[in-house]
Amino acid sequence: MASKVRKAIIPAAGLGTRFLPATKSVPKEMLPIVDRPSLLYIVEEAVRAGIEDIILIQGRQKTAIEDFFDVSYELEDKLERDGKTAMVENLRRIRSLANIISIRQKQPLGLGHAVLCGRPIVGDEPFAVLLGDEIMIAREDQETTTKTLTRHFESTGLSTVAMMEVPESEVSKYGIVEGEKNSDGTLRVRNVIEKPGKDQTKSRSALPGRYVFSGEIFQYLQDTKPGKNGEIQLTDAMTQLAHGSGLLASGFEARRYDAGDKLGFLQANIEMALEHPELASSLRQYLKGLAQKL
Ligand code: UTP
Repeated sequence: MASKVRKAIIPAAGLGTRFLPATKSVPKEMLPIVDRPSLLYIVEEAVRAGIEDIILIQGRQKTAIEDFFDVSYELEDKLERDGKTAMVENLRRIRSLANIISIRQKQPLGLGHAVLCGRPIVGDEPFAVLLGDEIMIAREDQETTTKTLTRHFESTGLSTVAMMEVPESEVSKYGIVEGEKNSDGTLRVRNVIEKPGKDQTKSRSALPGRYVFSGEIFQYLQDTKPGKNGEIQLTDAMTQLAHGSGLLASGFEARRYDAGDKLGFLQANIEMALEHPELASSLRQYLKGLAQKL
C-alpha cells in the first residue's frame, strides 16, 4: 500500500481577471458563496479526506486569506461579550481545521508553477491539489472528491486525478484526458491536452481541478518549459507522469461548481442558499415569483 496523503496544495494566486474589478483587491477564492468564502469549502473538503497540512499558494492580496485563518482577538472578544457564542465557536473551528502554511507565488506563471511553489514544504511526499476556484459539495453520506482520489492513490500507488464528462462545446475550456478504461471505471491516462482546439481530441473527459500526485510530478514540473500563454502548464507535466510511473483518472460523486466563472459562481450561490436554513424558504418563494415574470 502507498503512503497516506497528508498534505494538500491549494493554488490561489491567479489574477482572477474574470472577476475584475472585484478581484483587484480581493482574491477570487475569498468571494463568498452565501456567507462563506469559496476557499473554506475547499479547505473543508481536504480536511474530510484526512489532509492535515494545507499549503496555500498566494499572490498579491495574500493578507485577506491569511487573516481569514488567523485569530481575530478583537472580533472574537466582542462577539463573546455580546453572548454570540455560536459565532465565536464557528470562527475557532475554522482556524483549527488544519495547519495552514502560506507560500507566495511572486508572479502568476501558471498553475504548474503555482504547484511547484509548494515543493519546499511537500518534499517527496504524495500530495493533493485542489483548485481554489472549483467547489465540490459532497453530502455527508458521500465521499468527497479528494477522498476518492486519495483512496485510489493509497490502494494503487498511482497518481490519480478527478475527471468528468463535458459536452463537446465545452472541451476547449478544460484540460482533457485521453486513455483506456479500466474494468473499475477509472481511466489509465495516456495523454493530457490543455484546452484543446476543435477536432484536436475525441475525448470528452475533462479535469475539474482535483488531483493527487506522487512527489515525482515536481521533477516534471521543474523541467517543463512555459507552454500555452507563456505559463507553466500542469497538464504538460501530467502527460510526462502518465508516460512515467502512470496516471489514473476517476469520476466522483460530489456536485461541482466552477466558482471562477461568473455563471458558475451565481449557480453555486443560488443552490447553496436553497439549502441554507435561514434562506431556503424565502429564496424559493422569491425564485418562483421571478420565474413567472421571465
Ligand atoms: P485560473 O486560470 O482559473 O485562474 O487558474 P485565474 O488565472 O486567476 O483566472 P482568470 O481566468 O484570470 O479569471 C486556476 C487556479 O489556479 C490558480 C488560480 O488562483 C485558480 O485557483 N493559479 C493560476 C495560481 O495560483 N497561479 C497561477 O499562476 C495561475
